[in-house]
This record gives sequence, structure tokens and C-alpha cells, in this order.
Amino acid sequence: MEKLRIGIIGVGGIAQARHIPAFLALGDKCTITAVSDVNGDRAREAAEKFNIPHVFQDYKELFQEVDAVCICTPNKFHAEITIAAFEAGVHVLCEKPMALSAAECEAMIDASKKANKVLAIAYHYRFMKEAIAAKKSMEDVGEALVVRVQALRRRKVPGWGVFTNKELQGGGSLIDFGCHLLDLALWLMGNPKQTSVTGRSYNTLSKIPGQVNQWGEFDHQTFEVDDHVTAYMTFENGASMLFETSWAANIKEDVANVSVSGVEGGLNVFPFELYTTKNGMLFNTQADWMPGEEEPDVPQASNFVAACLGEAELVVKPKQALQVSQIIDKIYESSEREEGSR
Ligand SMILES: NC(=O)c1ccc[n+]([C@@H]2O[C@H](COP(=O)([O-])OP(=O)(O)OC[C@H]3O[C@@H](n4cnc5c(N)ncnc54)[C@H](O)[C@@H]3O)[C@@H](O)[C@H]2O)c1
Repeated sequence: MEKLRIGIIGVGGIAQARHIPAFLALGDKCTITAVSDVNGDRAREAAEKFNIPHVFQDYKELFQEVDAVCICTPNKFHAEITIAAFEAGVHVLCEKPMALSAAECEAMIDASKKANKVLAIAYHYRFMKEAIAAKKSMEDVGEALVVRVQALRRRKVPGWGVFTNKELQGGGSLIDFGCHLLDLALWLMGNPKQTSVTGRSYNTLSKIPGQVNQWGEFDHQTFEVDDHVTAYMTFENGASMLFETSWAANIKEDVANVSVSGVEGGLNVFPFELYTTKNGMLFNTQADWMPGEEEPDVPQASNFVAACLGEAELVVKPKQALQVSQIIDKIYESSEREEGSR
């Protein structure tokens, strides 16, 4: 069988650190035939480093050499490039967040349906072994009632790249980091429809000059995205979620976790623990061993390639990624309304 020909669009940090090595590890199923980057030097360097034959500065020219693309550009270009890829008859794995807004996500889904091509979003937390164990264990938890999501970093605003540029990224800690854990939580809950979303976003800390920051330097004067966000949401099945994300929290240590309190039991994802009752007793269970890879990159790439080849169902469905973006939109809107009323 012919190998799936893959092109990488935007060969910066995430493409070189995660996606290119992951596709290269699946050499019996796929081959990376082309790269593209608006920065021509970066594109040529990446092609040379990973021995990739075709290099383009304009991503539209890359489509002729590939069956599928992995889009690793700033968020602003996710929708435009995805839709262009579908118009060229090419499958898409797009980095998270799916796009800048839910409206853009809907246009991406429409284009994928029209082209009858795969659209996957890189919510890679789903491929972590703890997340897979938690999904399987929802049987023991029963219906999720109250879900707590924390995606918190202590003083780690990404000082490199374009992470603090609102025009290119659409937001800060919520759209960049919180989106991963929000996606994971919704998936564990079975993606029930949200009925209400309220939230508040902050950037107080990062606007004060001279902040202590562990991840490089950023300009407090031009800092315009959120560095801390809280939200509360309810769902049509009666569940509710307490959500918090930050790049710059004043907390003891970083936390990236989802915990679920359900009708039958509960669980914690990172580290994975199951809370149950039996014979009038309370049990806390840790897995002695669980299957899965240490890193989620290869399983994620493998699921995408298999879906393109018609051999597997996608783990991250585009409609689920759309729901993440709908909730993000609502949190930002709610926060703006609150600010306006103060
Ligand atoms: N899954 C994760 O945990 C994770 C981690 C980091 C970044 N990301 C996502 O990956 C994407 C890229 O982030 P990054 O850290 O690699 O950024 P980066 O700035 O290191 O790389 C982005 C690259 O895209 C190129 N580019 C910009 N516009 C382009 C265009 N129109 N066409 C082609 N190339 C273009 C830039 O020149 C740059 O080389 C973002 O959407 C980000 O949210 C995801």
C-alpha cells in the first residue's frame, strides 16, 4: 500500500519538537514529502535537518505534493489554511486551538464535509496514558456530576514566539493552555452540551513592569492577552464544571489536572487515581501499571494517519474541538460583559 504523503505547514517549535519526529516514527505508514513556512530560511533549514524533499514558502504550492497536512502556524491562520487544504483535497491535522473563534471552526468543519476529508485537532492530552485510563474508568465513576479543571503554571508566561500577541493567537492562557484540559474534561464527561458559561479573565500581573517569569521575557506594555482565567459552567445533563487556567499564577507549584466526582465514584487524571466504594468502605486505587506511551505524539500522529487511510476512527472529533472553542468564546464574552458592567 502507498504511504500517506504528509506536508508540514509552519515549521517552528511544535512542528520540529513533536509532529515531525512523530510522523518520522511511523515510516511504514507515512512519509513527510514537503514543508512550508513563510520564513523561507526556516523552511529550508527544517527540510535539510529532517531530510524532507520539497520546500515551499507559499503553503498553497505544497498541496500538490501531499495527501495530508499538519498545520503548525499561529492560531490566526488555522482556519484559512485548513479550508484551503480541503479545497485542494487534502486531509488536515491542525494544531490547537482549532481556530480563533467557534465561527471559524464551523467553517472548517463545513469545508471538511464538502471535501470528504479528515479533520483532526491536536488535543494531545487525550493520547496520554493517564487520560486513556481515566476515559476507560468513567464506567466506574458513572455519570459525571462535578468536574474540576486546573491548568495552572506558576509564573511561566511563554516569552518566546507569538504567544502574547492577541491578533495572531486570539488570547493567552485560556486559548493556549486551558483549552487542552478543557477538551480532556469535556471528553471524559461525554461532551454534554453546555447550558451556561460565566467567567472572568485577568492580565493584571503581566501588565505590571518587571515581573518574575520563569519562561523568558515579555513586554508588559504590549501584553494584551489573559494570564489567568476562571470559569463556571453548567451542562444540559445537570453536570457542572469549575475551571481555572493561568500562565502566571501565584501558587506553590504548577498543576495540570482534571478531577471528576461522579454518581458511582470519582477519579483524578494526573496522577491517575480512582475513588470507589465497596462493602461499606471507601477505596482509593492507583494503577500499578497502565498501557500506553510515555509521550502522546506518536499515538496522536498514528491515529490521524490511520483515520486518513480509513483504518481507524478519529479520537478527537472536530465537533468536540468546536465545543472547546464555543466555551472559550463564551468565557471571553462573559468576562468582557462583566468588565463593562463594573
Ligand atoms: N499541542 C501543544 O501543546 C502546543 C504547544 C505549542 C504550540 N502549539 C500550537 O502550535 C501552533 C504553532 O506554535 P509554535 O509554538 O510552533 O509557534 P512558532 O512561532 O514556533 O512556529 C510557527 C511557525 O509558523 C510560521 N508561519 C506563520 N504564519 C505562517 C503561514 N501563514 N504559513 C506558513 N507558515 C507560517 C512561522 O514562520 C513559524 O515558523 C500554535 O497554534 C500553537 O497554539 C501547540
